[in-house]
Formats: sequence, C-alpha cells, structure tokens
Amino acid sequence: MGKKLKVVLLNGSPRRKGNTATALGWVEQALEEQGAKLRRHELHWLAFRGCLHCDSCKRRDEAPACKLRDDLREVLDDVVWADALVVASPVYCWKVSGPTAAALDRFYCFFKESGRSLIEGKQVAGVFTAGGDKRDGLDLCVEMLKRLSAYGRAAYRGSLAGVRCDEPAQTRERKDLQRQARALAARLKR
Ligand SMILES: Cc1cc2nc3c(=O)[nH]c(=O)nc-3n(C[C@H](O)[C@H](O)[C@H](O)COP(=O)(O)O)c2cc1C
Repeated sequence: MGKKLKVVLLNGSPRRKGNTATALGWVEQALEEQGAKLRRHELHWLAFRGCLHCDSCKRRDEAPACKLRDDLREVLDDVVWADALVVASPVYCWKVSGPTAAALDRFYCFFKESGRSLIEGKQVAGVFTAGGDKRDGLDLCVEMLKRLSAYGRAAYRGSLAGVRCDEPAQTRERKDLQRQARALAARLKR
C-alpha cells in the first residue's frame, strides 16, 4: 500500500455548524474514506495577525520562517507538511472571509527571494459557500485560489461551489453538495 495523502484543511467560517463547516465535513469524510491523513484548523478561532511585510521570511528557503509568533505558525507548518491543501470559506462581500484572507496573506512567506515556492507541487482545492449564485462573489473566490495556486506552482484541483446556501439545516440536506464534495475529494490523489 502506498503512503497516505496528507491533507490540511482550513475553515474560515466562524460558524462551527454552518454551511461551510458542513460542506468541508463532507470533503473531510470522503478523504478519510480514501485513507488520507487530515489536519484541520478553524481559522476564525485562532489568534493571529496579518502579514507585516517585513520580508524577513524571504531569505530562508527551507521553512516558512515567518517571524510572527502567533497561532498561524502551526497552520503554516502544516501547509508545508501536507501534500494537499483545502481552503474553505463563506463568501463575504464578494470575497473570502477576513480570517481566510488574513491567513492566505501570510502565505507570502512561502514564496522565497530565490524563486523557491514552499507550496510547489502541492494540490489545492476550495470549498466555498454563498447565499447567492456563482456570480455573487463565489466566482471571485475560486479565481483567487486558482491564481494563488498558479503563483506558487501548486496544482489547483477544483472547488466545491456551494451556491444558494442559507439555513445550515437545509444545507445539511443538499445532495448536490454532497456529490460535489465526494467528486472533489476524489480529485485529490497521492
Ligand atoms: C458578512 C456577510 C457577507 C456576505 N456576503 C455575501 C456575498 O457577497 N455573496 C454571497 O453570495 N453571499 C454572501 N453572504 C452569505 C454567506 O456567504 C452564506 O450564507 C454562507 O453559506 C455562510 O456560511 P457559514 O454558514 O459557513 O457561515 C454573506 C454573509 C455574511 C454574514
């Protein structure tokens, strides 16, 4: 048997039983069934700051080397550890949530002065839920994740597009989203 796929999952929603958590839970469940090893972080509930743009990370090639000593340090280390990254967020005002954006800003430390990218070759997937349709901001979240992946020479594998998500109780019944979750997980392979 081959080595297990290591996946880090970042949830940027404050609602632990909300729409994003539900959709991410299905992806997580499918990955577990595929035998993946998972580490999940609830970004909203961590204490961390935005990128300082101090550039002190840029000259150390082998590690994130962010000088901020806060809760995001473990998250950054886990991204380096993982083969695949799943970014989950509700759509807030045509973009990802604040904690998601702040965490992704901190990915700046992965892109080194030498040209090295610490996310090169990793697989990236998104899980986005929105009250509206694709064009109400979810499309912009997908585009952001694609561009971030391309910049870091990571392999973007797709996103679960949870459109028209309102009440979490209704979302939990959504078979279409469950199907999307299984399909997305199946695209993350060792
Ligand atoms: C502050 C805020 C801003 C929102 N902005 C948008 C938006 O721009 N486009 C959209 O389609 N839905 C928007 N929504 C709806 C949420 O994206 C949607 O309900 C989402 O599924 C909530 O996820 P959660 O249950 O994980 O918190 C917004 C909701 C909030 C609270």
